[in-house]
Amino acid sequence: MSAVDQLNQAAAAAELERLAARLAEADRAYHERDAPVMSDAEYDALRRRNDAIEAQFPDLVRADSPRHRIGGAASGGFAKVAHGVPMLSLGNVFAAEEFAAFLERARRFLGLKDTPLRCVGEPKIDGLSISLLYLDGVFVRAATRGDGSVGEDVTANLRTLPDLPTRLRGAAPARIEIRGEVFMRKADFLALNAAQEAEGERLFANPRNAAAGSLRQLDPRVTERRPLALFAYAMGEASERVATSHSAYLQRLSAWGFVVNPLAELLADAAAAAAFQQRLGAERAALPYDIDGVVYKIDDLAWQERLGYVGREPRWAVAWKFPAEQATTRLLDIVIQVGRTGALTPVAQLQPVNVGGVLVTRATLHNEDEIARKDVRIGDTVTLQRAGDVIPQILGAVAADRPAAAQPYLFPDHCPVCGSLAVRPAGEVVRRCTGALTCPAQAEERLVHFVSRPAFDIDGLGEKTIRAFMQDGLLHGPVDIFALPDHEAAIAAREGFGAVSARNLMRAIAARRRIPLARVIYALGIRRIGARNAQLLARHYGSFAVWRTQMIAAMQIGAEARSDLANIVGIGPAIAEELVGFFAEPRNVAALDALAAQLSVEDAAPGGGGDARLAGKSVVFTGTLVTMTRPEAKAMAERLGARVTDSVSRRTDLVVVGEDAGSKARKAEELGVRTLTELQWRELTTGSDAAGPESVVDQQ
Ligand code: IVH
Repeated sequence: MSAVDQLNQAAAAAELERLAARLAEADRAYHERDAPVMSDAEYDALRRRNDAIEAQFPDLVRADSPRHRIGGAASGGFAKVAHGVPMLSLGNVFAAEEFAAFLERARRFLGLKDTPLRCVGEPKIDGLSISLLYLDGVFVRAATRGDGSVGEDVTANLRTLPDLPTRLRGAAPARIEIRGEVFMRKADFLALNAAQEAEGERLFANPRNAAAGSLRQLDPRVTERRPLALFAYAMGEASERVATSHSAYLQRLSAWGFVVNPLAELLADAAAAAAFQQRLGAERAALPYDIDGVVYKIDDLAWQERLGYVGREPRWAVAWKFPAEQATTRLLDIVIQVGRTGALTPVAQLQPVNVGGVLVTRATLHNEDEIARKDVRIGDTVTLQRAGDVIPQILGAVAADRPAAAQPYLFPDHCPVCGSLAVRPAGEVVRRCTGALTCPAQAEERLVHFVSRPAFDIDGLGEKTIRAFMQDGLLHGPVDIFALPDHEAAIAAREGFGAVSARNLMRAIAARRRIPLARVIYALGIRRIGARNAQLLARHYGSFAVWRTQMIAAMQIGAEARSDLANIVGIGPAIAEELVGFFAEPRNVAALDALAAQLSVEDAAPGGGGDARLAGKSVVFTGTLVTMTRPEAKAMAERLGARVTDSVSRRTDLVVVGEDAGSKARKAEELGVRTLTELQWRELTTGSDAAGPESVVDQQ
């Protein structure tokens, strides 16, 4: 082990990565499995080594740095942080007179007569407030507001935000706490929800919820993938004065490297504030993020100090809220949409109405329980709202305007498209069409998914073309796409086509006959199998043939293939069940085989980032393992890039032989496949690199 001051950047980064992985595994083993994989002394030594390297290379501190893991994920979430200066809330005003009264109170409190009381107006961002601590200009800790006095330590998560300066530019006080808002832009929110939907994950109601859900992740790698943004806007504790006015403080924040809201403005008096309020109100709908009002802060910091707080609200600032973006309109109809997985979603068709600058014609009614709870009926006048939510919500019906003939809405128990029974499993809110492959609505959605970018990515086969081809009988399911070249002339003659686009389409199709396994798995549109899970499966099984065989084998409850599937890190029993459900339907398997016959599916490379010491190796475990469970041993092998299989063949690289091993151990010996005892396996997988795993695996 080299002395810390002799490490170069690359070596330090590599070692920090290894330490993070080993300590995380040790934490999980200790806290989640109660099965420590190293002694306390060894653990402490690794942590000290990590801290020493981080101190030497502060720019290399990782989002998942072990220093920010307090006892591992299972210990009950985030560490608590007491705020030196409490994080308070703001009083609200809703009208110009109320705002003028706020200013007047402040003026009286300060004993000012005609001196103008200047304010800074800033958009009130609808996100989560955060407190950021910097020591000697280096970011050391982030805490949520919590109850105002005690928040949660989300340092590791904040480090993943591109807007967060990890080091303040220029001179900074020895200790300073900066406050701001973590939020998500509307467009990023919509894209995140689309991705969540594709992955079969839960959807967020609005950008604020999405930001909150993303920030409070125990695994900072999840936060890292979420598009969170940060505006800095206020001060907490500071070891020295950094400005005499709020407007100067904002400039200072910006110089240090923070993103400060560019719309913030210094305003001379109440009239200027009222004009600012009007202007932002008009711009509100067009802003890239949600705001629910404007915060006005008295500019002079000496005055702020004198004004202080009343209860939990400052006397020096106030939030002037916008009226909720509401409107009423008529509910013309409720249309049931059928999604790719058969989910029946009720969509309100509305008399077009302007809500906060956006023309709304449709709104989701979520599910049948929601319709019943709000008792909205076709013909009703309904109230809609866009408050933080990009997708408008129906609040309820205006009782006085209900037509005499309006009947409670009866949710259909059959699919409106194919007529198959629509069932709602106990405990679920969603009703689903059981028509699967026979339902044209599902078929169409499935095809759209099949050709989408992360799947087969076929240019020139958009939603409209798919619909038209289906109507004309050119397409029924995915396999028909590969028969389209037989109809090139007919397609070229179609409206909107022509020889060139028909040719291009055929080329695009031909180019996709050779395709990576993960894309094929994803393209099938199996519930909960998004791009990430498809990748996990592809890496685990390696080839189409192995995957198919193993899925069929996994249909048997209790089969080894079933537990193997459910034990893939990141898959689990619920996802395994969806996969098995897909293969249990013979028509699905037939469709898959017909498709595969048209393709040349590329094998997947095992592993996936991180430590890939066993990349590409095929490992078999046999006999009883005493110091770890089978799933644990498999997970470890996969984390290091290996593929775990059941049977020993010439292609097996390594057989780990536990107690009472039988035929597999013998076969390994016969074939000359390298074998390891459980102890050797442990040394290989948990030992340091110096042990030289290559020397064990690659020598023949
Ligand atoms: S200043 C003493 N400025 O509004 C309060 N807050 O209701 C200092 N907020 O928890 C807060 N945008 O999360 C301030 N430009 C802004 C803000 C803002 C949003 C939030 C903040 C706070 C809440 C207060």
